[in-house]
Amino acid sequence: MHKHELVYLTEDASHDAVIELINEEAFGPGRFTRAAARIREQGPHDRLLSFICADDGETIASVRMTPVLAGSVKGHLLGPLAVRPSHKNQGIGRELVRIAVEAAKRRGSEAVILVGDPPYYGPLGFEKVAHNALAFPGPVDPNRVLVVPIATDTHARLKGTIVWRDADIPAAVADEENDDDDLPLRAIAG
Ligand SMILES: CC(C)(COP(=O)(O)OP(=O)(O)OC[C@H]1O[C@@H](n2cnc3c(N)ncnc32)[C@H](O)[C@@H]1OP(=O)(O)O)[C@@H](O)C(=O)NCCC(=O)NCCS
Repeated sequence: MHKHELVYLTEDASHDAVIELINEEAFGPGRFTRAAARIREQGPHDRLLSFICADDGETIASVRMTPVLAGSVKGHLLGPLAVRPSHKNQGIGRELVRIAVEAAKRRGSEAVILVGDPPYYGPLGFEKVAHNALAFPGPVDPNRVLVVPIATDTHARLKGTIVWRDADIPAAVADEENDDDDLPLRAIAG
């Protein structure tokens, strides 16, 4: 009998090709035209906050995080999130979101923002952003713009455009006690 050995790892360049295939399978060619994709085209994602899940060494799911300036909030845009059809409904998507949000908090991010389904992301800590508070570089359904507010005044400052930002410009100072947590994630058994 096949025994699943799920591990969650920090993304690196060796995962690029398979992540491309996973996203192609999940979203098809239309993925490049979405408003969130247009932000991601503006600059690279942050590999230290992006994660994959592997089953017996085969990459079967991915989440990426891209540094953004949303109004005056220095946060991260979560996505794409995709799980291969063979591995859906096993909690892998939720776990990748949880890991990415926790990593963003440790790095001092002020918010994790995404465009997605509220019923899926609500239980993971995402709240609705005020309608049309953020101007995306393309049309979005305002009911699907969601945020995990990390800084206390996040909602008030989420007003204006959302654009890629250079993550080398530090966000708020991270929790000093968690210095070791900035190391790449090697493996968390799932
Ligand atoms: C959406 C996706 C990432 C979920 O990953 P997953 O590992 O299958 O999901 P999980 O096992 O963590 O969660 C499964 C639960 O979420 C629910 N769910 C899945 N997609 C959902 C959605 N779009 N809206 C609401 N609930 C959803 C499932 O019904 C299931 O509910 P249950 O626990 O009550 O049975 C995956 O289905 C996928 O890759 N889909 C295609 C790409 C996509 O839509 N990505 C999200 C973009 S916003």
